[in-house]
Amino acid sequence: MNADKTDSATPVALVTGGARGIGAHISRALARSGYHVAIGYSSRPQPAQAFADSLKEEGGFASIHQGNIGEPGDCERVVHEVMSSHGRIDVLVNNAGITVDKTVRRMSTEDWRAVVRVNLSGAFHMSKAVLDQMVERGFGRIINISSLIGQTGGFGQANYAASKSGLFGFTKSLALEVALKGVTVNCVAPGAIETEMLEAIPGEALDRMLEKIPMRRFGTGQDIARAVMFLADPEASYITGQVISVNGGWEM
Ligand SMILES: NC(=O)c1ccc[n+]([C@@H]2O[C@H](COP(=O)([O-])OP(=O)(O)OC[C@H]3O[C@@H](n4cnc5c(N)ncnc54)[C@H](O)[C@@H]3O)[C@@H](O)[C@H]2O)c1
Repeated sequence: MNADKTDSATPVALVTGGARGIGAHISRALARSGYHVAIGYSSRPQPAQAFADSLKEEGGFASIHQGNIGEPGDCERVVHEVMSSHGRIDVLVNNAGITVDKTVRRMSTEDWRAVVRVNLSGAFHMSKAVLDQMVERGFGRIINISSLIGQTGGFGQANYAASKSGLFGFTKSLALEVALKGVTVNCVAPGAIETEMLEAIPGEALDRMLEKIPMRRFGTGQDIARAVMFLADPEASYITGQVISVNGGWEM
Protein backbone atom coordinates (compact mmCIF):
# COMPACT_ATOMS: atom_id res chain seq x y z
CA MET A 1 0.00 0.00 0.00
CA ASN A 2 1.18 3.50 -0.73
CA ALA A 3 -0.69 6.41 0.76
CA ASP A 4 -0.06 10.10 0.48
CA LYS A 5 -0.74 12.35 3.42
CA THR A 6 -4.05 14.15 3.05
CA ASP A 7 -5.96 16.06 5.69
CA SER A 8 -9.28 14.87 7.11
CA ALA A 9 -11.21 17.29 4.87
CA THR A 10 -9.96 15.60 1.70
CA PRO A 11 -12.78 13.53 0.19
CA VAL A 12 -11.88 9.92 -0.51
CA ALA A 13 -13.00 7.80 -3.47
CA LEU A 14 -12.43 4.07 -3.83
CA VAL A 15 -12.42 2.76 -7.40
CA THR A 16 -12.30 -1.01 -7.94
CA GLY A 17 -10.21 -1.97 -10.97
CA GLY A 18 -9.13 1.67 -10.87
CA ALA A 19 -5.68 1.32 -12.43
CA ARG A 20 -6.55 0.57 -16.04
CA GLY A 21 -9.16 0.95 -18.76
CA ILE A 22 -12.31 2.85 -17.81
CA GLY A 23 -11.37 2.65 -14.13
CA ALA A 24 -8.13 4.56 -14.75
CA HIS A 25 -10.05 7.38 -16.44
CA ILE A 26 -12.42 7.52 -13.47
CA SER A 27 -9.51 7.53 -11.00
CA ARG A 28 -7.76 10.33 -12.89
CA ALA A 29 -10.91 12.46 -13.07
CA LEU A 30 -11.47 12.03 -9.31
CA ALA A 31 -7.83 12.83 -8.51
CA ARG A 32 -7.98 15.97 -10.66
CA SER A 33 -11.09 17.05 -8.74
CA GLY A 34 -9.22 16.85 -5.42
CA TYR A 35 -10.21 13.39 -4.17
CA HIS A 36 -7.74 11.05 -2.57
CA VAL A 37 -8.21 8.06 -4.87
CA ALA A 38 -7.88 4.59 -3.39
CA ILE A 39 -7.19 2.43 -6.41
CA GLY A 40 -8.28 -1.18 -6.15
CA TYR A 41 -6.35 -3.76 -8.18
CA SER A 42 -6.46 -7.52 -8.24
CA SER A 43 -3.04 -8.92 -9.12
CA ARG A 44 -0.39 -6.65 -10.69
CA PRO A 45 1.08 -4.16 -8.20
CA GLN A 46 3.72 -2.59 -10.49
CA PRO A 47 1.40 -1.10 -13.14
CA ALA A 48 -1.08 -0.08 -10.41
CA GLN A 49 1.72 1.70 -8.50
CA ALA A 50 3.03 3.32 -11.70
CA PHE A 51 -0.47 4.62 -12.42
CA ALA A 52 -0.88 5.95 -8.86
CA ASP A 53 2.53 7.66 -9.19
CA SER A 54 1.41 9.30 -12.44
CA LEU A 55 -1.60 10.77 -10.60
CA LYS A 56 0.68 12.07 -7.86
CA GLU A 57 3.00 13.66 -10.44
CA GLU A 58 -0.05 15.62 -11.61
CA GLY A 59 -0.55 16.84 -8.03
CA GLY A 60 -3.18 14.29 -7.02
CA PHE A 61 -3.42 11.96 -4.02
CA ALA A 62 -3.56 8.23 -4.60
CA SER A 63 -2.92 4.87 -2.94
CA ILE A 64 -3.19 1.31 -4.24
CA HIS A 65 -4.99 -1.57 -2.53
CA GLN A 66 -4.84 -5.21 -3.58
CA GLY A 67 -7.96 -7.36 -3.36
CA ASN A 68 -10.07 -9.81 -5.32
CA ILE A 69 -13.58 -8.36 -5.17
CA GLY A 70 -14.96 -11.85 -5.75
CA GLU A 71 -13.87 -12.59 -2.16
CA PRO A 72 -15.97 -10.95 0.57
CA GLY A 73 -13.00 -11.00 2.98
CA ASP A 74 -10.83 -9.10 0.48
CA CYS A 75 -13.54 -6.44 0.08
CA GLU A 76 -13.71 -5.94 3.85
CA ARG A 77 -9.91 -5.81 4.12
CA VAL A 78 -9.53 -3.23 1.34
CA VAL A 79 -12.19 -0.99 2.88
CA HIS A 80 -10.59 -1.40 6.31
CA GLU A 81 -7.20 -0.43 4.82
CA VAL A 82 -8.61 2.73 3.23
CA MET A 83 -10.56 3.66 6.36
CA SER A 84 -7.49 3.15 8.59
CA SER A 85 -5.35 5.40 6.38
CA HIS A 86 -7.88 8.03 5.38
CA GLY A 87 -10.77 7.83 7.85
CA ARG A 88 -13.58 8.07 5.31
CA ILE A 89 -14.87 6.84 1.97
CA ASP A 90 -17.16 9.35 0.28
CA VAL A 91 -17.44 7.70 -3.11
CA LEU A 92 -17.33 4.03 -4.10
CA VAL A 93 -17.13 3.21 -7.79
CA ASN A 94 -17.81 -0.47 -8.43
CA ASN A 95 -15.98 -0.59 -11.74
CA ALA A 96 -14.06 -3.90 -11.76
CA GLY A 97 -15.59 -6.42 -14.13
CA ILE A 98 -14.75 -9.44 -16.26
CA THR A 99 -16.16 -11.31 -19.24
CA VAL A 100 -16.09 -15.04 -19.97
CA ASP A 101 -18.04 -15.13 -23.24
CA LYS A 102 -19.60 -18.40 -24.43
CA THR A 103 -23.03 -19.44 -25.62
CA VAL A 104 -25.18 -20.88 -22.87
CA ARG A 105 -24.85 -24.36 -24.34
CA ARG A 106 -21.06 -24.17 -23.97
CA MET A 107 -20.96 -22.19 -20.74
CA SER A 108 -19.87 -24.15 -17.68
CA THR A 109 -21.25 -23.57 -14.21
CA GLU A 110 -17.85 -22.13 -13.28
CA ASP A 111 -17.94 -19.71 -16.29
CA TRP A 112 -21.30 -18.49 -15.02
CA ARG A 113 -20.26 -18.25 -11.39
CA ALA A 114 -16.92 -16.54 -12.10
CA VAL A 115 -18.57 -13.61 -13.89
CA VAL A 116 -21.46 -13.20 -11.46
CA ARG A 117 -19.05 -13.47 -8.50
CA VAL A 118 -16.97 -10.52 -9.69
CA ASN A 119 -19.44 -8.28 -11.53
CA LEU A 120 -22.48 -8.60 -9.29
CA SER A 121 -21.45 -10.14 -5.96
CA GLY A 122 -18.30 -7.97 -5.96
CA ALA A 123 -20.44 -4.82 -6.07
CA PHE A 124 -22.60 -6.21 -3.25
CA HIS A 125 -19.64 -7.02 -0.99
CA MET A 126 -17.85 -3.71 -1.65
CA SER A 127 -21.04 -1.69 -1.08
CA LYS A 128 -21.81 -3.59 2.12
CA ALA A 129 -18.29 -2.94 3.37
CA VAL A 130 -18.48 0.86 2.86
CA LEU A 131 -22.10 1.44 3.87
CA ASP A 132 -21.96 1.69 7.66
CA GLN A 133 -19.49 4.57 7.67
CA MET A 134 -21.41 6.36 4.87
CA VAL A 135 -24.68 6.06 6.80
CA GLU A 136 -23.02 7.16 10.05
CA ARG A 137 -21.55 10.24 8.34
CA GLY A 138 -24.81 10.92 6.48
CA PHE A 139 -23.09 11.08 3.10
CA GLY A 140 -22.10 8.67 0.39
CA ARG A 141 -22.10 8.06 -3.33
CA ILE A 142 -22.10 4.52 -4.73
CA ILE A 143 -21.76 4.28 -8.50
CA ASN A 144 -22.02 0.90 -10.18
CA ILE A 145 -20.56 0.45 -13.65
CA SER A 146 -23.02 -1.74 -15.50
CA SER A 147 -23.21 -2.13 -19.28
CA LEU A 148 -25.39 -1.65 -22.34
CA ILE A 149 -25.30 -5.45 -22.52
CA GLY A 150 -27.26 -5.53 -19.26
CA GLN A 151 -30.00 -3.59 -21.06
CA THR A 152 -30.01 -5.44 -24.39
CA GLY A 153 -28.47 -8.85 -23.73
CA GLY A 154 -25.51 -10.00 -25.78
CA PHE A 155 -24.86 -13.08 -27.92
CA GLY A 156 -22.53 -15.36 -25.97
CA GLN A 157 -22.78 -13.10 -22.94
CA ALA A 158 -25.58 -14.56 -20.79
CA ASN A 159 -23.41 -14.55 -17.66
CA TYR A 160 -22.14 -11.00 -18.29
CA ALA A 161 -25.60 -9.65 -19.25
CA ALA A 162 -27.21 -11.27 -16.19
CA SER A 163 -24.53 -9.82 -13.89
CA LYS A 164 -24.89 -6.34 -15.42
CA SER A 165 -28.73 -6.42 -15.37
CA GLY A 166 -28.45 -7.65 -11.80
CA LEU A 167 -26.63 -4.42 -10.96
CA PHE A 168 -29.74 -2.43 -11.97
CA GLY A 169 -31.91 -4.28 -9.44
CA PHE A 170 -29.19 -4.12 -6.81
CA THR A 171 -28.73 -0.37 -7.36
CA LYS A 172 -32.43 0.43 -7.08
CA SER A 173 -32.94 -1.74 -3.99
CA LEU A 174 -29.96 -0.30 -2.14
CA ALA A 175 -30.98 3.22 -3.22
CA LEU A 176 -34.35 2.67 -1.52
CA GLU A 177 -32.72 1.40 1.65
CA VAL A 178 -30.40 4.40 2.11
CA ALA A 179 -32.53 7.19 0.57
CA LEU A 180 -32.99 8.85 3.97
CA LYS A 181 -29.33 8.54 4.91
CA GLY A 182 -27.63 10.97 2.51
CA VAL A 183 -26.33 8.10 0.39
CA THR A 184 -27.18 7.87 -3.30
CA VAL A 185 -26.73 4.74 -5.40
CA ASN A 186 -26.70 4.92 -9.18
CA CYS A 187 -25.53 3.05 -12.26
CA VAL A 188 -23.60 4.12 -15.31
CA ALA A 189 -24.20 1.85 -18.30
CA PRO A 190 -21.43 2.27 -20.90
CA GLY A 191 -21.93 1.26 -24.52
CA ALA A 192 -18.88 0.27 -26.56
CA ILE A 193 -15.87 2.02 -25.05
CA GLU A 194 -12.32 2.13 -26.50
CA THR A 195 -10.46 -0.19 -24.09
CA GLU A 196 -8.67 -3.54 -24.18
CA MET A 197 -12.12 -5.16 -24.14
CA LEU A 198 -12.81 -3.66 -27.60
CA GLU A 199 -9.31 -4.44 -28.92
CA ALA A 200 -10.15 -8.14 -28.63
CA ILE A 201 -13.08 -7.80 -31.09
CA PRO A 202 -12.38 -8.45 -34.83
CA GLY A 203 -12.51 -5.44 -37.22
CA GLU A 204 -15.63 -6.55 -39.12
CA ALA A 205 -17.58 -6.97 -35.89
CA LEU A 206 -16.41 -3.48 -34.82
CA ASP A 207 -17.70 -2.04 -38.11
CA ARG A 208 -21.09 -3.69 -37.53
CA MET A 209 -21.17 -2.23 -34.02
CA LEU A 210 -20.40 1.27 -35.32
CA GLU A 211 -23.34 1.07 -37.73
CA LYS A 212 -25.65 0.63 -34.75
CA ILE A 213 -24.31 3.68 -32.89
CA PRO A 214 -26.12 6.86 -34.00
CA MET A 215 -23.04 8.97 -33.14
CA ARG A 216 -20.86 6.62 -35.27
CA ARG A 217 -18.02 6.55 -32.78
CA PHE A 218 -16.98 4.42 -29.84
CA GLY A 219 -17.05 5.99 -26.41
CA THR A 220 -13.95 6.92 -24.45
CA GLY A 221 -13.00 6.39 -20.85
CA GLN A 222 -13.46 10.13 -20.35
CA ASP A 223 -17.08 9.87 -21.51
CA ILE A 224 -17.71 7.40 -18.69
CA ALA A 225 -15.65 9.34 -16.15
CA ARG A 226 -17.72 12.48 -16.81
CA ALA A 227 -20.96 10.65 -15.96
CA VAL A 228 -19.35 9.23 -12.81
CA MET A 229 -18.14 12.68 -11.73
CA PHE A 230 -21.62 14.09 -12.23
CA LEU A 231 -23.17 11.43 -9.98
CA ALA A 232 -20.33 11.67 -7.42
CA ASP A 233 -20.85 15.39 -6.88
CA PRO A 234 -22.35 16.30 -3.49
CA GLU A 235 -24.72 18.57 -5.48
CA ALA A 236 -26.20 15.50 -7.24
CA SER A 237 -28.09 14.77 -4.04
CA TYR A 238 -31.57 14.28 -5.58
CA ILE A 239 -30.54 11.61 -8.08
CA THR A 240 -30.71 8.04 -6.83
CA GLY A 241 -31.63 4.61 -8.13
CA GLN A 242 -30.99 5.76 -11.71
CA VAL A 243 -29.18 4.38 -14.71
CA ILE A 244 -27.25 6.83 -16.89
CA SER A 245 -26.57 5.27 -20.27
CA VAL A 246 -23.41 6.54 -21.97
CA ASN A 247 -23.57 4.88 -25.36
CA GLY A 248 -23.74 7.43 -28.22
CA GLY A 249 -27.47 6.77 -28.56
CA TRP A 250 -27.07 3.04 -29.26
CA GLU A 251 -30.03 2.21 -27.00
CA MET A 252 -32.61 4.89 -26.20
N1 LIG B 1 -14.96 -1.48 -22.33
C1 LIG B 1 -16.23 -1.45 -22.64
O1 LIG B 1 -16.60 -1.27 -23.80
C2 LIG B 1 -17.26 -1.60 -21.56
C3 LIG B 1 -18.60 -1.48 -21.92
C4 LIG B 1 -19.57 -1.60 -20.95
C5 LIG B 1 -19.21 -1.83 -19.65
N2 LIG B 1 -17.91 -1.95 -19.30
C6 LIG B 1 -17.61 -2.20 -17.90
O2 LIG B 1 -16.71 -1.20 -17.43
C7 LIG B 1 -15.89 -1.74 -16.41
C8 LIG B 1 -14.42 -1.52 -16.76
O3 LIG B 1 -14.17 -2.17 -17.99
P1 LIG B 1 -12.82 -1.99 -18.84
O4 LIG B 1 -13.19 -2.06 -20.23
O5 LIG B 1 -12.05 -0.85 -18.34
O6 LIG B 1 -12.11 -3.39 -18.48
P2 LIG B 1 -10.63 -3.76 -18.08
O7 LIG B 1 -10.53 -5.23 -18.25
O8 LIG B 1 -9.63 -2.88 -18.76
O9 LIG B 1 -10.60 -3.39 -16.54
C9 LIG B 1 -11.25 -4.17 -15.58
C10 LIG B 1 -10.59 -3.92 -14.25
O10 LIG B 1 -11.20 -4.77 -13.28
C11 LIG B 1 -10.19 -5.39 -12.51
N3 LIG B 1 -10.66 -6.69 -12.00
C12 LIG B 1 -11.10 -7.74 -12.72
N4 LIG B 1 -11.42 -8.75 -11.90
C13 LIG B 1 -11.20 -8.31 -10.63
C14 LIG B 1 -11.34 -8.90 -9.35
N5 LIG B 1 -11.79 -10.15 -9.19
N6 LIG B 1 -11.03 -8.16 -8.27
C15 LIG B 1 -10.57 -6.89 -8.40
N7 LIG B 1 -10.41 -6.29 -9.59
C16 LIG B 1 -10.71 -6.99 -10.69
C17 LIG B 1 -9.02 -5.58 -13.49
O11 LIG B 1 -7.81 -5.76 -12.78
C18 LIG B 1 -9.09 -4.26 -14.26
O12 LIG B 1 -8.38 -3.27 -13.57
C19 LIG B 1 -16.26 -3.22 -16.30
O13 LIG B 1 -17.18 -3.41 -15.24
C20 LIG B 1 -16.90 -3.51 -17.63
O14 LIG B 1 -17.81 -4.58 -17.55
C21 LIG B 1 -16.92 -1.84 -20.23
